[in-house]
Parts: sequence; structure tokens; C-alpha cells
Amino acid sequence: MKIEAHALEHYYGAEHILRGVDLSIPSSGFTAIIGESGSGKTTLLSILSTLLQPTGGTVTYDGKALAELGNIDLFRRRNIGFVFQFHYLISYLSLRENVALAALAPEGIDPLMERLGIGRLGSRYSDEVSGGERQRAAIARALINHPSVVFADEPTGNLDTKNALGVYELFREFSNSGTGFIVASHDKKIADFADTIIEMEDGIVKKIHH
Ligand SMILES: Nc1ncnc2c1ncn2[C@@H]1O[C@H](COP(=O)(O)OP(=O)(O)O)[C@@H](O)[C@H]1O
Ligand SMILES: [Mg+2]
Repeated sequence: MKIEAHALEHYYGAEHILRGVDLSIPSSGFTAIIGESGSGKTTLLSILSTLLQPTGGTVTYDGKALAELGNIDLFRRRNIGFVFQFHYLISYLSLRENVALAALAPEGIDPLMERLGIGRLGSRYSDEVSGGERQRAAIARALINHPSVVFADEPTGNLDTKNALGVYELFREFSNSGTGFIVASHDKKIADFADTIIEMEDGIVKKIHH
């Protein structure tokens, strides 16, 4: 699947935040969106991932505007996974139950948790595991329905360097087996793991490195 942005503009009130962004991103591979805090990464990622409607311009998935994708809830559920800085796991449910809650089919839950290195932690609650393990559970939840693409916004914002690198390695590994990742981060180390790096500055794409 190819995700394209055409002449994106975004305002919050009178503040002009995204100032003409054109991009073409394959939903396979690992794409990092980097830039200083305030450069517009979250705004861009939210628009690309269908969560935020831009003030101007369009996003297309395989050439289709969002309005042409049919039921958008269904489209998201089938095609997109989301990971945020804060894990948003439900504290009353175990890690496994959190993943199961999102799963359309139960079969893949245990192998996926195993592959993410949290196989033996399924019955633990989020306050009984480390930050890195919590984020792995959130990644399992994002991956459980085999989305074409996972969008992650500062997924390592609450992690130490070792756990952050572990998360980038997971994205690398899963992107080698076909799932796409589009990840916004102010952490430049992510660039060592990504196939494509989109550098944002003051609401425009400053540079694209491959
Ligand atoms: N909901 C909002 N309302 C008003 N201003 C916002 C809102 N969200 C972000 N901004 C502003 O837009 C700019 C870009 O923000 P953001 O996209 O979050 O950048 P980044 O993720 O790179 O830090 C910042 O100046 C921020 O203060
Ligand atoms: Mg941000």
C-alpha cells in the first residue's frame, strides 16, 4: 500500500503548523519522521494515519482519498495499527487480555507475545512489568490483526536507551517480514534502524534520506 500526502497544510487556530507537505511513503519498510520538538511530527503522523483531518491538502491510500476508502472504522481496523508514547493499556486487564481485547481472532496472540519477548508475562498487569515490556504489549496490540502499516508516535519517549533500541530493533525485524512502520520520534538514533528518514523542520519536510 502506498500512502501519499499532497500539499498538506494544517492550522491550529491561526497558527500555521504544516506548511505544504508532499510525501510518498510505501507502507512496507520502516520510515522514521524525525525533527525537533514542535516541528510538526505528531501533526503530520496524525494526518497520515487518518486520525486528524488536515486544514488543506489530501492524504491518499493507494491513490484513494479517505472518503473513498469506505467505512473508515473498518479500514483502520483492517489496515492500521497504532502505538503512542503512553501505552494506553487497560490497567484492569492483564497484558494478554489487553492484546486479546483488540484481536479479531485469538489464534495469533501467544505466538506474537512470544516473538515480542513478553510471552511469559501474559498474566501480569501493566503496573507489574517494566516500561519496555509495557510498550512491547502495546506493540503486540498494534500488530495483532496483521495491519499493513503501524503508526507510532514517540513510542520510545518513556524508555531508556537500551529499551528504546530494543523497540527500534523490533520495528526493523517486523518490517523485514512485511509490516510497514511509520514512526515519529525526536530521537535521532532511530535513523540507524529505518529505511527512510523524513526530516521535519518548522512544518515542512527539510530532507528525505534513504
Ligand atoms: N492541538 C493543538 N492546538 C494548538 N497548537 C498545537 C496543537 N497541537 C500541536 N500544536 C502546536 O503545533 C506545533 C507542532 O506540534 P507537533 O505536531 O506536536 O510537533 P512535534 O510532534 O514535532 O513536537 C507546536 O508548535 C505545537 O505547540
Ligand atoms: Mg510529537
